[in-house]
Amino acid sequence: MEELRQKYIAAIAAATDEAALEALRVQAVGKKGEVSLKMRELGKMTPEERQVAGPALNALKDEINLALTAKKVGLADVALDARLRAEWLDVTLPSRPVRRGSIHPISQVTEEVTAIFADMGFAVAEGPQVEDDWHNFDSLNIPGHHPARAEMDTFYMSRKEGDNRPPHVLRTHTSPVQIRSMLKQGAPIRIICPGRVYRCDYDQTHTPMFHQVEGLALGKDISMANLKWVLEEFFSAFFGTEVQTRFRASHFPFTEPSAEVDIQCSWEGGTVKVGEGNDWLEVLGSGMVHPKVLEAGGIDPNEWQGFAFGIGIDRLAMLKYGIPDLRAFFDSDLRWLRHYGFSPLDMPSIHGGINR
Ligand code: PHE
Repeated sequence: MEELRQKYIAAIAAATDEAALEALRVQAVGKKGEVSLKMRELGKMTPEERQVAGPALNALKDEINLALTAKKVGLADVALDARLRAEWLDVTLPSRPVRRGSIHPISQVTEEVTAIFADMGFAVAEGPQVEDDWHNFDSLNIPGHHPARAEMDTFYMSRKEGDNRPPHVLRTHTSPVQIRSMLKQGAPIRIICPGRVYRCDYDQTHTPMFHQVEGLALGKDISMANLKWVLEEFFSAFFGTEVQTRFRASHFPFTEPSAEVDIQCSWEGGTVKVGEGNDWLEVLGSGMVHPKVLEAGGIDPNEWQGFAFGIGIDRLAMLKYGIPDLRAFFDSDLRWLRHYGFSPLDMPSIHGGINR
C-alpha cells in the first residue's frame, strides 16, 4: 500500500497538465484503478485483516483524491499566471479618439420652437413631404390657374404615362398639414407642424429645401389680436429679448386678412444680428384662416374661426445664431457643423440660451 501511495503521490506531483492528472485519476481510483481493485480484495480477507486494510485503503483513496484536487488548482494558477504575463495592457496609453457628432442648428431651433409653442398649448402635427396637389394647393384656395402655383416654383413628381393618380409635388409649404389636421381632428384645434418644404430657388437666403413650422389655432372667437400676441410672445421667448417686429399687410390665398412679419436686424460685418440695424428679415406669413380653407378641412366657417402662420425655421436659426449664409446649412461641411453645431447635452428649453 505504501508503494502505491508513493507511486501516485510522486506521479501527481510531476504531472504537467490536466489530461495527465485525469489519466492518473483513472489509473489509481477509477472503477478499475489500482486502489479500487485492492478494495475489492477486502472481501477475501479475514475480518481481522479487513479491519486494518479497510480504513487504510480508504485513507489512501482520500489522500490521492486530495492530491489530485490540489494539483489541479495548482495547474490552473500556473496557467492564469502565464496568461497574465502574456496578456499585457498599457493603461497609460491614450484611448482612441472618438469624434462626437453635433446637433445641427436646424434640429436645435426646431426643438426650441416646439418647446415654446408647446408651453402655449400647441401640439405637434406632421404630414408627408410628397403631397398631392389638392392638399398642397386646391384645398388651400389655390386653384389650378392661380399665380401662386407658379410663384412657388414647385417641384412636381414625374408620372409615368397612364398613371392617373392625382399629380404629386414636393410640398412647397407646411400649410397642407393644416388641412390634414382639420380633417383628422376637427375644431377646436391648436397645433404646430414643423418640417421640410421644397421650392426651386437658390441664393444667399434661399435653398431648394428648407424648413417651416406651421401654426394653426381655431376656436369660437380666436382673432388677429391673438395671433399678434402669440407671435410676439414667441419671438421674445425665442430670442430671449424683446424683438422689434413689423407686421405688413399682405396676401395669401388661404388667409384673409393676411400679414407678413419681419424682424429687425443688421447685416453689418457679414454677420446678421437681431434687434439692431436698419434691415428687416421676413420670417413668416400669417393671417386669419380663409372660410374656404375651413370648409376644405371639413369645418363650418360660421361656427369656427382662427389664425394660421408659417415661420421659416432656417431664417430663425440664421438670426438667433448669427449665421450669414443659408446655403451653408446644407453643405455638410464638417468644419461648419463643428462650429455651429450644438452639444447633444445642450437640451433646448423655453428658456434656452440667448444668442451670442
Ligand atoms: N404657407 C405660407 C408660405 O409658405 C405661409 C403662411 C402660412 C401664410 C399660414 C399664412 C398662413 O409662404
